[in-house]
Amino acid sequence: EKGGFASFMEKEIHDQPAAVADTLLGRSDVDGNLILDELRIDEDELRNIRKIIVLACGTSSYAGMVAKYAIERWCRIPVEVELSHEFRYRDPIIDANTLIVSISQSGETMDTLMAVRYAKEQGARTVSICNTNGSTIPRESDAVLYTHAGPEIAVASTKAFLAQITAAYLLGLYLAQLTKKLYREEIKDILSDLADIPAKVQQILDNADSIKELARSMAEASSVLFLGRNVGYPVALEGALKLKELAYIHAEGFAAGELKHGPIALIDEGQPVFVVVPSPMDRHSLHAKVVSNIQEVRARGAKTIVVAEAGDETVRDYAEQVFYVPETQPMLMPLLTTVPLQIFACELATAKGYDVDQPRNLAKSVTVE
Ligand code: M6R
Repeated sequence: EKGGFASFMEKEIHDQPAAVADTLLGRSDVDGNLILDELRIDEDELRNIRKIIVLACGTSSYAGMVAKYAIERWCRIPVEVELSHEFRYRDPIIDANTLIVSISQSGETMDTLMAVRYAKEQGARTVSICNTNGSTIPRESDAVLYTHAGPEIAVASTKAFLAQITAAYLLGLYLAQLTKKLYREEIKDILSDLADIPAKVQQILDNADSIKELARSMAEASSVLFLGRNVGYPVALEGALKLKELAYIHAEGFAAGELKHGPIALIDEGQPVFVVVPSPMDRHSLHAKVVSNIQEVRARGAKTIVVAEAGDETVRDYAEQVFYVPETQPMLMPLLTTVPLQIFACELATAKGYDVDQPRNLAKSVTVE
């Protein structure tokens, strides 16, 4: 059942091309029209949405952060992302023009379920992005957009994360189509780049030897930092969470711009720092800013490990090691840059002899508050 892999986690990392492809399947036509029939909320109601709040925990909340960047860019609707357990207890301001998008692999996370119930009571419309058919959160939501990652067995989420991000993009494109915030051609372009993602993920999986080798060489690390910016920021957070969960190593993700505001004090000789570099095509020239962050930490002795887009030669001089991912449009990069970080955490934990499918102290679904 592990399909020849040593762990479910490894298998699930390799299931990711299919998880993305299956989540895209049947949800658009050749003309670039999104067909989200399952989203049973009246189109007019969706057109009148003035604010979106994404609710989730853990890895799913990082998918929510990616959703925020994409939906705000494509639809110009303000999006907040909040941890479900924080949301509930602060008397949040919601009304009938607020759309709640919950993201949950299991559909059973108590914190998220309670937050969705609360939002419904306040009159909000609720959409669930979920991987588990018929689970509680989608049953209690007005509408559901299922991710088709297949059952995820390993406690640490991998393929569900990529599928959640994919579903979030589809939701963003659908709303952009309804509100006419993107041209048909723009939507078509994004859909066509999304369709290419599975093969690109496969390419990363097929060329993973060097990241695995690095992971084995770092089994004794006591702390690892992850930097990212824009859509690379949630990727950095996810890279850090995977390492904590699986390898029990202290790891933290930061927004690269925050470095000077404190975290740079952590850098000393030999400190490993992963940097998720934005695409050189990013419209806000964040690439150059992140490259200078790499220089800054390196000048202070950090061991810099860089994840960048193929063809980006500018990072080479400052990186101890570079892992390239295939090119795609900047907004879609998380579907690729996440993968080396997952492989890294899985391999490092395995090298330490830990059970990657059942990390200590964790449960696959957290059904208590
Ligand atoms: O089932 P959910 O997506 O609601 O679960 C949310 C988190 O508990 C989950 O993502 C957790 O952070 C994983 N262990 C991450 O690997």
